[in-house]
Amino acid sequence: MKSSSFSFIDLFAGIGGFHLAMTNLGGSCVFASEIDAAARTVYNINFGIVPEGDITKIDEKQIPAHDVLCAGFPCQSFSKAGNRGGINDPRGTLFFDIVRIAKYHRPKYLLLENVRNLAGHDNGNTWKTIKYNLELIGYNCPGLPVIFSPHYIGIPQFRERVFILCKRKDLGSIKPFVFDKKDIAECDIDSILIENHAIENIGKYLLKNEEAALIGIWNDFFEICRDKLPGFPVWTEYFTDALYDGDLDNIPKWKRAFIKKKQRLVFK
Ligand SMILES: C[S@@+](CC[C@H](N)C(=O)[O-])C[C@H]1O[C@@H](n2cnc3c(N)ncnc32)[C@H](O)[C@@H]1O
Repeated sequence: MKSSSFSFIDLFAGIGGFHLAMTNLGGSCVFASEIDAAARTVYNINFGIVPEGDITKIDEKQIPAHDVLCAGFPCQSFSKAGNRGGINDPRGTLFFDIVRIAKYHRPKYLLLENVRNLAGHDNGNTWKTIKYNLELIGYNCPGLPVIFSPHYIGIPQFRERVFILCKRKDLGSIKPFVFDKKDIAECDIDSILIENHAIENIGKYLLKNEEAALIGIWNDFFEICRDKLPGFPVWTEYFTDALYDGDLDNIPKWKRAFIKKKQRLVFK
């Protein structure tokens, strides 16, 4: 077992993406929280830790001290920068649970993750609110979050996300995050999927036979157009053996354009 060089907590832990990365770097998880019971079961199977439940119900004083706070928190809207009272969404307070915990424990680093469009969300107000509040409690934040996806470094998954690394102000400024972009790795879906083993309570995370078959079909599709993969969405309901001549008038203009592009892709 690796000796741990830092401690971390895993908020909104899901099934443990952060946990895996942090322990690979020598970190030791001292606390995790996840509201979804099935995800907690998987987390326990993966790491031998049962996460605590709803973070809004957990007193920050009950959380152990830690060096790094990790949180892949759900994206919400904030109506006004810096104004907690202006949150529209009932889940809007979840970010402030991160603030509450960080303010009390003052870990050295915060590593937050969210959907790609967080920076532009709600005309930039969401990002402004996040940055304002993290700076207010004593952290240096990047001007904008870093956008990253596994496929940038050759891992065959397209999943653009923003990462926000904040450093406690007394530890100095944050260096820009630089990495070498690599070509996407060769990969076959069958090399990634594991056989469905019946594990109690995680039924909803297992693929049904028809879902597995669909993935196989997408894999074949990918192989056919590997070199000219479309940058637009492709909807299978318009996969017919002829040009779709349904009632396009009832379909929004933007969607119509994608359907036409898709038809050119299939029938050219
Ligand atoms: C974007 S996902 C994070 C996924 C995670 N990074 C992973 O590797 O699986 C957000 C997670 O927050 C959890 N969540 C939402 N509200 C919560 C709450 N009040 N307390 C704890 N977890 C919550 C959701 O169930 C979901 O699993």
